[in-house]
Amino acid sequence: MAEKKSTTKKESDKKTSTKTKSEKKTDNKKTSSTKTGAKKTSGKKTSSKKTDNNSMLDEIKSYIENTVIGMLPEPDGMSDPVRNAMVYAVKAGGKRVRPLLMYLTYKAFSAASNSQTASEQTAAPGSQAEGADNSGTAEKSASPHDKAVEYFMAALEMIHTYSLIHDDLPALDNDDLRRGNPTVHKAFGEDVAILAGDGLLNYAYETAAKSFISCPGDIDVEKAVFILASKPGLYGMLGGQTVDVVLTGKRPTAEQLSYIYSNKTAALLECAMTIGGTLAGVSGENLDKLQNAAYYIGMAFQVQDDILDVTGTVEELGKDVSQDKKNGKITFVTIYGIEKAKEYVKQASLLAIKLVDEAYATITPTPQTDEYISILKNLITQMISRKN
Ligand code: IPE
Ligand code: IPE
Ligand code: MG
Ligand code: MG
Ligand code: MG
Repeated sequence: MAEKKSTTKKESDKKTSTKTKSEKKTDNKKTSSTKTGAKKTSGKKTSSKKTDNNSMLDEIKSYIENTVIGMLPEPDGMSDPVRNAMVYAVKAGGKRVRPLLMYLTYKAFSAASNSQTASEQTAAPGSQAEGADNSGTAEKSASPHDKAVEYFMAALEMIHTYSLIHDDLPALDNDDLRRGNPTVHKAFGEDVAILAGDGLLNYAYETAAKSFISCPGDIDVEKAVFILASKPGLYGMLGGQTVDVVLTGKRPTAEQLSYIYSNKTAALLECAMTIGGTLAGVSGENLDKLQNAAYYIGMAFQVQDDILDVTGTVEELGKDVSQDKKNGKITFVTIYGIEKAKEYVKQASLLAIKLVDEAYATITPTPQTDEYISILKNLITQMISRKN
């Protein structure tokens, strides 16, 4: 499949004029339980660093779960049939890989950018940083977008969940099982399922807009909203789904296949990593590297999804298998076979990690041992292979 030739436009660097006019509602009360974020275990002495990182990842996963669930809409007594279907779809679970990628990119690169800034400031005698504690990572200084990233994580998971509800509809993939439960149209009817998808898409932006309240006038938040608006759209996920649907039963060209995968799947992963990077202060070439890394993660993730549709089980995946064949989808696996598909997944994963390493090394020329970057790289491999 074609490699990504150049990074997709510089849209994330453009200033947008997005401003909320009315900011009536602030964040849901329930989210206060996640205010402190995931606890860092770095200071602990444990027998193995790997175990330490695994337990830190578990903490991060549960923090993200609480954040996402905590930002779902409250019932109002009238629109509840759709609200309940929205909540059902999100609460059903899912691996939460998009918020995870966003959060780990944000944390790893915040630490990196802050430590770089700190060392630059230390290098300037008489600067404000003179005498500052510069011995560790940026963990010591609060990252300014800790609240904003929570809104963006929840918003992206809502958008992803909407895409799944609509993807499962009888008019698209006609699936009965999702995240181990009946699909939304099976549980609530097709009319409610369509509206629940609409509802999640809209509520995602309502949620993300709350970051204007936590960070008023903040250019990075404005850029992040622009990314959240564009990557799921016509020139992103929706475009990919369009070509996927239109070409059902037909054999796509290599270019069409690449377009489908890079948009229906990679676009939301690019959304996750570039929002995480932007909120961490990453820009320019390094942000492009993160976007390209996410592109390869997305391509590998979708090819692995196609492989598992052939080789996986309902129990493992929480969704029906052999659906691509049933629906007449000509996938990477149909065209190139399982072995080539596996090799592609391996190579694309390695490329993704290489790009993350390059961006990180540019930002932290002095080698860093921050846990977040190790966890991020492990997550990339695990999420693609679907290993816990
Ligand atoms: C499923 O995404 C759709 C694809 C892009 C293959 P996930 O595999 O991330 O689904 P959940 O969120 O874990 O249910
Ligand atoms: C869907 O791809 C990608 C979306 C944008 C939802 P698939 O149709 O292959 O995803 P699954 O296999 O139903 O999860
Ligand atoms: Mg589909
Ligand atoms: Mg599907
Ligand atoms: Mg699939």
